Amino acid sequence: MFTSDVLVIGSGIAGLSFALKVASFARVTLVTKKARVDSATNLAQGGIAAVLSSEDSLEAHIGDTLRSGDGLCNEEIVRMVVTEGPERVRELMEFGVRFQKGKGGAGLDLGMEGGHSCRRVAHAMDLTGREIERALLSQVERHQGIEVLENHLAIDLLLESKASHRQRNGYDRCLGAYVLNTRSGEVETRTARLTVLCTGGCGKVYLYTTNPDIATGDGVAMAYRAGARVANLEFVQFHPTCFYNPQAKNFLISEAVRGEGGILVDRDGRPFMKQYDPRGDLATRDAVARGIDAEMKESGADCVYLDITHRPAEFIRERFPTIYATCKRFGVDITMEPIPVVPAAHYMCGGVQVDAWGKSSIACLLALGETACTGLHGANRLASNSLLEAVVFAHRGASWCRENWSELKKQPFLPIEDWRVGKACSIEENVLISHNWDQIRRLMWNYVGIVRREKRLKLVQRRLRPILEEIREHFHDYLLTADLVELRNIAVVAELIIRCASSRKESRGLHYMVDYPGHDDARFKRDTVLTRFEA
Ligand code: SIN
Repeated sequence: MFTSDVLVIGSGIAGLSFALKVASFARVTLVTKKARVDSATNLAQGGIAAVLSSEDSLEAHIGDTLRSGDGLCNEEIVRMVVTEGPERVRELMEFGVRFQKGKGGAGLDLGMEGGHSCRRVAHAMDLTGREIERALLSQVERHQGIEVLENHLAIDLLLESKASHRQRNGYDRCLGAYVLNTRSGEVETRTARLTVLCTGGCGKVYLYTTNPDIATGDGVAMAYRAGARVANLEFVQFHPTCFYNPQAKNFLISEAVRGEGGILVDRDGRPFMKQYDPRGDLATRDAVARGIDAEMKESGADCVYLDITHRPAEFIRERFPTIYATCKRFGVDITMEPIPVVPAAHYMCGGVQVDAWGKSSIACLLALGETACTGLHGANRLASNSLLEAVVFAHRGASWCRENWSELKKQPFLPIEDWRVGKACSIEENVLISHNWDQIRRLMWNYVGIVRREKRLKLVQRRLRPILEEIREHFHDYLLTADLVELRNIAVVAELIIRCASSRKESRGLHYMVDYPGHDDARFKRDTVLTRFEA
């Protein structure tokens, strides 16, 4: 059994910033399932939205966030995040993040993205996430109080009810996690006074995604299995513009390209977005993704195009160096020809339900970043509000932890049973895993995508049932591998998305139901909350 004061699971912006803020008074162990840079943060292109310019205002950012969230944001949380945002961005700069300098406010060049009424996105060209990850990691690596363990994949949370064999009226406390050392194959029992889920999103539940391979919904799946409240999982954000090229895996074409004038066109070069939304190419993401989906269905084309060739070639190369170089590598010179694009699963607006301090419904369990559902995004996240949410909530979670540390420190480390291997044997045919993995991702893409129907949701529920059953058997019969743990998690998250989507009989934000095309405020202007106990 390993013990630490705080166990942070995940090494993106949320996990790293939280760890840095509590390491002055607590011993932190940060586990991450692959290399430390393998996080969605590292791939983020656009930037971080905050009110930094004198031409902008908190009210404008609040209004844009609420409009994008389509009636489902928690206004108090929106106000709090937007108000605290500028300070957190300045703090990132103190941590060494080098945002692009310019005349936009705070000495920075501020970008424009869909749904924003003003330029307010601090960025490092199209490599913002990589720059943030670099700066935070270099601080974490220098810190004596933080132990970083790569190739450590959390499997399940440790609970007081299990350790004490006592259930206390729904109350439970998290005591750490079972963690698979994916190099040795051993399952470690890692206990902690406080456990923090920062595992990112779950794009890998879908066949096409902009997310890295690690995005398998581990935090949501673990929290749900442990009995925590999870919410709003029907609100899966599809990014409108993923590079369409069979060889280029999941490459995102940042929304900032449209922010700098990029226009969506069909194969004949005809702009089409105004036909679907008066805001055109800079409408919120839900509207743009639906517009592209409708356009592709109507024309039968495999993709649409994003055209920025009217901007000077030098500007394009300087502002979007990664996008330029990557597309060029795959034969598309974006200064001279339009970029073929399709929508792909990008961001989970729902997650583990938390309060204003990042606390989940299980004591001593926090969830931060994309893993959490804070109330900021409502039914559709505003572009570049995700990194913002992560740093604001990491700060608030750390403040809560500091204020309550004398109490938290008194919690005894209870004896926990080690992971039981039983008669499990090693899995000889990986096809058992890859086949189910592929089936789930295809089912989700085809049945629970951008546009949904009640009939398809019913069908997919039926089809998923035997797969879930088979995975449950595998989990007992075979020794654990990373693939098996992740498969179990994507299956749980897929089921939760379907359940949330089936229960919302209206269209709102990212959840569009052909059978119920309008809002139904009377019945559905509320979060969709699930717990294991109400399954
Ligand atoms: C992008 O650069 O388009 C992604 C940024 C975001 O998801 O907010």
